[in-house]
Amino acid sequence: MQQAPTVLHVGWMSRAVDALVRSGAEVTCAVKPADAPAARTVCARTIVVPDPTRSTDVLAGLARAGLAADAFDAVCSGLEFCLLDAAAIAGDQAGVSRALAMRDKFVQKRGVRDAGVRTADCAVLDETGAAATALPSFPQVLKPLDGGGARNTFLVADERELTAALGQPEFTAGGGPWLLEEYIPGVEFQVDGFVEGGELRLMSISRYVQNLIEVHSGGLVAHIVLPPRTHPELYAKVRALAETAFKALGHHDGVFHLEVFQHAEDGEIVFGECGARVGGGRTDEVVERAFGVRLHDVWARLATGRPSGVTSSPGHADDKVFGGMNLSARPGPVRAVPSAGEVLDRPGVVYAEVSAGPGTVLPDTTEATNLRAGLAVVSGADEREVEDRMRRLADWFAAQVAQETSDTAG
Ligand SMILES: Nc1ncnc2c1ncn2[C@@H]1O[C@H](COP(=O)(O)OP(=O)(O)OP(=O)(O)O)[C@@H](O)[C@H]1O
Ligand SMILES: [Mg+2]
Repeated sequence: MQQAPTVLHVGWMSRAVDALVRSGAEVTCAVKPADAPAARTVCARTIVVPDPTRSTDVLAGLARAGLAADAFDAVCSGLEFCLLDAAAIAGDQAGVSRALAMRDKFVQKRGVRDAGVRTADCAVLDETGAAATALPSFPQVLKPLDGGGARNTFLVADERELTAALGQPEFTAGGGPWLLEEYIPGVEFQVDGFVEGGELRLMSISRYVQNLIEVHSGGLVAHIVLPPRTHPELYAKVRALAETAFKALGHHDGVFHLEVFQHAEDGEIVFGECGARVGGGRTDEVVERAFGVRLHDVWARLATGRPSGVTSSPGHADDKVFGGMNLSARPGPVRAVPSAGEVLDRPGVVYAEVSAGPGTVLPDTTEATNLRAGLAVVSGADEREVEDRMRRLADWFAAQVAQETSDTAG
């Protein structure tokens, strides 16, 4: 490949596109109209399409611009929902199969299970009528086949709860097919890093402060990186699982965001799911501080067929532990919200961004883990101190947000 590869990025994600540009690529970006102004500031060329998650739209946009998809050195995306389309647009059939294995929850679980990796039993629910007998036992988790952020993901204890869940508007309004999974009890972890030439080059294991499904009952969405030196056994077990899983899924070169459980009964690791993308929230900022690796830069180079650029073996910071968290508040219109600077002044906070501001209508953040008012990266001497600081920060932030409703009521 030439020195400055020409790259088509599908969809808009500023951190991914910035990394491509930093890597020396000449970037064309296919984006929806609302993202066009931002894309134009950094991309060599911007193609505006109705919906970049639809390959039909992107291919038509390219044709209107007189461009051929195969004229690019690489077609890629940092966005989970565009990964498969990027491979399809590139006309890369093997890439489509790999992207599918890293995306479809059923195909993925079947793939790793066939390779001997422990994962939840699951069944696709084409029509809701067959739900009760789809899996042999309860509890179960009911979820969308291509979900994100734990949205519309329900833990059901028995047939009665399953029937009740299927009676919710999300189900009765159509949609589907859906996925039913055996419920895995235990602590949940996110595992981030990259594979290069089939070798697992970086693996960062974080414990979710509360399992993500607890977002629906107001649980804190936060993760804390566990240093390998204090958790050697966990790292060894997860590494063994990840290496087998990536081989089975054909993920030889690229970043990953893996979710696993440590089974409550026997302590063994159970595969949850895995995406070929940088983890959500500010996983990038957390991993950079914990391991000194910029995941978007690694993604940009591997996604365009170049070496990762990481030459040494990344080690964890000696003196500190880091974690990332959502900042949330009650839903509704906001009158005032702490600034990122004020969040940065709280104990241990090393990075902050606040997306809400006066006039913002905050969504109900219990609906999904990717709904929030802001994000923070918190440091501490150990895991316990980081968790304690996170809980205090979450409470402080929520209390500081001035809502129109509370004001008018008062
Ligand atoms: N089989 C299961 N056993 C136990 N908990 C589960 C199971 N499936 C899902 N969960 C819980 O629900 C959450 C969301 O499920 P899952 O990760 O499959 O969907 P998602 O919405 O795609 O999340 P992401 O945003 O990570 O892509 C998980 O993080 C976990 O907390
Ligand atoms: Mg998940």
